[in-house]
Amino acid sequence: MLRRLACLLALWTCACDAAPAADAGPPPEDGRVDDADAGPPPPFVEDPRWFRHAVFYELWVRSFQDSDGDGVGDLPGLTSRLDYFVELGVEGLWLMPTYPSPLADSGYDVADYVGVHPDYGTLEDMDTLLTEAHARGLKVYLDLVFNHTSRAHPWFVESQGDPSGPRGDWFVWADEAGEGCEGAAGPFGSVRWTRDETRGQFYFHQFYPEQPDLSFDEPSVREALLDVTRFWLDRGVDGFRLDVPYRYDEDLPVCVHRPGTFDFLRSLREVTDEHDAAMVGETLASPEELGRYLAPDVLQMGFLLAEATIFWVAAQTETAGGLGRAIDAVVAETPLEGGTFATVLGNHDLQRTTAAVADDPGALRVMAATQMTLPGVPFVYYGEELGMLAGGDFIVDSRDSARTPMQWDAGPNAGFTEGAPFLALAPEHETRNVETLRADPDSLWSFYRRLIALRTSTPALTTGNYQRLSSPNRSTLVYWRRHPDGDRLVAANFGRGSAALDLGVPWEAVRDALGEAPVGAVEGGRFRGELPGRTVWVLGAAE
Ligand code: NOJ
Repeated sequence: MLRRLACLLALWTCACDAAPAADAGPPPEDGRVDDADAGPPPPFVEDPRWFRHAVFYELWVRSFQDSDGDGVGDLPGLTSRLDYFVELGVEGLWLMPTYPSPLADSGYDVADYVGVHPDYGTLEDMDTLLTEAHARGLKVYLDLVFNHTSRAHPWFVESQGDPSGPRGDWFVWADEAGEGCEGAAGPFGSVRWTRDETRGQFYFHQFYPEQPDLSFDEPSVREALLDVTRFWLDRGVDGFRLDVPYRYDEDLPVCVHRPGTFDFLRSLREVTDEHDAAMVGETLASPEELGRYLAPDVLQMGFLLAEATIFWVAAQTETAGGLGRAIDAVVAETPLEGGTFATVLGNHDLQRTTAAVADDPGALRVMAATQMTLPGVPFVYYGEELGMLAGGDFIVDSRDSARTPMQWDAGPNAGFTEGAPFLALAPEHETRNVETLRADPDSLWSFYRRLIALRTSTPALTTGNYQRLSSPNRSTLVYWRRHPDGDRLVAANFGRGSAALDLGVPWEAVRDALGEAPVGAVEGGRFRGELPGRTVWVLGAAE
């Protein structure tokens, strides 16, 4: 079932086969892997841009920390928690939408692009957050939701009431309900046109009816959106996550990856470059398409289409080949001197990682360690580092199961609020919380902290080349990350059983940078060891 889901999402048969070609035969008994299989190492280009060396953290202000006891998280609450990110080692924060909104889609229905939701505070609170974040070396990315507004946005209200006025064509209007988007379905249903009684016409929307699509055919719409971008950059925002940018421009029934979308993204790029800011696009594209979004004049970062599911499938099926081939494909399509892809194990649209892998602690660890050692900028979704469970209280839709309040301590409401939380906390918050887990050096939280420190302090793991070797067995992924400052050889075992490894290494003795225990010996240029189940080794030369 999970594999099916990943196949549907991925639409790449290569990511869904039971095992990659290199693993297809009977697994070698001795775990021997020959470097010769890998071909020449790919060319190396150093990328000094800060985000290539960072780990990001996605959070919802509403769920993160309440400062005034109204049961809703807010900007002062988030500001009071900034030291947490420094402690965890993440540097980039992506805030889900913080704008005024009727919250028909948790803020992805924006009623004012240049304001702050009154539940979260004021523009001054945003300024304080930025100042305090910058003082700690943190960068703050806001979520730009440009494909659509809320029905409550004044632009839409004006367009509704004044068809021949200056904003009459800012949305997509028609006398009859027209075609939808090719292949559209999913949580937002298949209806794409809703009748508006004020204007006596239908408007087009790719998401909920509360989210009318803006018309990217209108130059004044594009200009207004660039002004919104400048507004936040001038206030000191460091970058943006772009909501469904691949859907900006449509020519029904084609709604994705249109030329007009790329044109607008290039304009956005110029504006963000002027401020040395960066963007990460929710690009949801195949590797080839993603490569186009990562061209040097388009996006600096883009998420993978198959996103988290390729990691979940590997852990669930104890088969690493699909993940390896998906990463190979995207690395091959990523322009050497352009942007980079970004990886997630979960996000606000997906189920909690714990739900995806039946709360198997080994699976959570092997996924996290693989994400932190593969290329692609890692994004951690809040609570992932705690193994937060799915909640059962829904306000908008089932996605709320992964949007429950952050769990800080073992006290009432996990330290999130002194009031009544707007959404019920997830189960087991009494034990799965920051205070409890940080006290245990063997906890998932402590493991995340070590992983993030290892990644951000090891150039091979951030900007190093990636080259996968053939796998010694179906459950194991082996790859080089090579950098002039020192190479690392990563071996990740997604299976529950141990795996024999026999790898050629240029070192006389080997050390695993992640664990403390000795991992095996080098003899005659070959490292031999027994990699335990659900374990990742990050091998380098022992001093
Ligand atoms: C993608 C966002 O991730 C999702 O949460 C939202 O519902 C849709 N875009 C519409 O904005």
